[in-house]
Amino acid sequence: MKEDLIAAKRDALIAAARQAMGTAYAPYSGFHVGAALLFDDGAILTGANFENASYGLSLCAETVACSIAAHAGRRGGLVAVAVIGGPAGAVEAAISPCGRCRQVVNELAALGGTDPLILCVGAHEVVEMPLSVLLPNAFGPANLA
Ligand code: THU
Repeated sequence: MKEDLIAAKRDALIAAARQAMGTAYAPYSGFHVGAALLFDDGAILTGANFENASYGLSLCAETVACSIAAHAGRRGGLVAVAVIGGPAGAVEAAISPCGRCRQVVNELAALGGTDPLILCVGAHEVVEMPLSVLLPNAFGPANLA
């Protein structure tokens, strides 16, 4: 069951996001973010933000992680996402995925018909909510079918 898998992998997922944050390339904002995706077979794939000298082209951690997953052949099966970040990697407040990343995560989730649990990891708390709460009435692949 999805809940059991998330419970079993929760600590590993958060640790993976934290480790991924260490690979952030964020010389312009100085804000380092890591994201970790948990799939229904127990696999965890990660990403970190990758900024650009043309600032607006910067890629968020969640988007990088989803791109890596797609490139690894993943099409759905997404059960949870952990996100963590802070200035120079100093984590304080829990951060939630930006609007664009919510849409990118939705694409990967929709391919497998799942509603992944999003874990927003702070220094003293983990705020959890399903993607459908962060992005209600999402536009997705079904709209183009
Ligand atoms: N960032 C992410 O990686 N994920 C988010 O959900 C929010 C913001 C990055 C983008 C930019 O590199 C830095 O954080 C500051 O906005």
